[in-house]
Amino acid sequence: MDTIQETKRAAAEQAAAYIRDGMIVGLGTGSTAYWAIQKIGKQVKEGLSIQAVATSIESENLAKELGIPILSIAEVDSIDLTIDGADEVDNSWNLIKGGGGALLREKIIASASKELIIIVDESKQVSQLGKFPLPVEVVQFGYELSQRRLGKLGCVPQLRMSKDKPFITDNGNYIVDCHFETIVHPGELHTAINMIPGVVDNGLFIKLATKVIVGYNDGSVNELG
Ligand code: A5P
Repeated sequence: MDTIQETKRAAAEQAAAYIRDGMIVGLGTGSTAYWAIQKIGKQVKEGLSIQAVATSIESENLAKELGIPILSIAEVDSIDLTIDGADEVDNSWNLIKGGGGALLREKIIASASKELIIIVDESKQVSQLGKFPLPVEVVQFGYELSQRRLGKLGCVPQLRMSKDKPFITDNGNYIVDCHFETIVHPGELHTAINMIPGVVDNGLFIKLATKVIVGYNDGSVNELG
C-alpha cells in the first residue's frame, strides 16, 4: 500500500476506536472514509453491536458487503458519531467537502450527529479554505442560471462532468465546482450560496466537526480537539 493510503488508514482506524456498542454511526464517503468503514466492518465481525447510516450509495453498498447493519435515514433522529473525510480543513475546523459528490447526504448526516470526527491526511490541512474548488449541488432545472449566479460571488464556476455527461449526484442533481482560490469568510459565503434558488447545498461545513484526526506521511497520527 502506498504512503498516502497508509496515512488515511491510520487516521481512520484511530477514529473507529471511538465507536462503542449500541451507537448509531454515520459512515462517510471517499477514499479515507473507506478505511474507516473497513475497520468498522472488522469490529462488527468481532462482535461490536452498532447500527449505521451511510452518506452515499457507495458507502452503503460497501457497509452491506462487510456485514455492517444499515438503517435508513428515515428511521433515525440522531446519530451518535459520524466519521468522514474532507477535502480541506482550516485552523477553525471549517471544511470543504464534496470532492466525491456526496456533500448533501454528508451534511444531512453531519448536522444530525452528536460527534463528527473528520479524518484526513496532512495534505488536507490549510490555513485558508478555497484552493480546492468548492462543490455546490444544484437542481438540474435552470442550472445554467444558478451557475452564472455562483460566478457573481467571485468564483469561476464549472459544471462537474463524468466522461462527456454532467455528473449526477445520488440525489439526482448536478454539481458546480466553484474555483474561489481563497475563501476569506466561509460562514458568510455558505449563506450567500445557499440563498441562490436552485442551490440545494454547498460543500462548506461550518462548525460541524468536533474532532479532526490527521495522518502524517511519517506514519504518525495527531488528534486535534
Ligand atoms: C465526498 O463527497 C467528500 O466529501 C469526501 O469526504 C471528501 O472528498 C474526502 O475524500 P477523500 O477521503 O477521498 O479525499
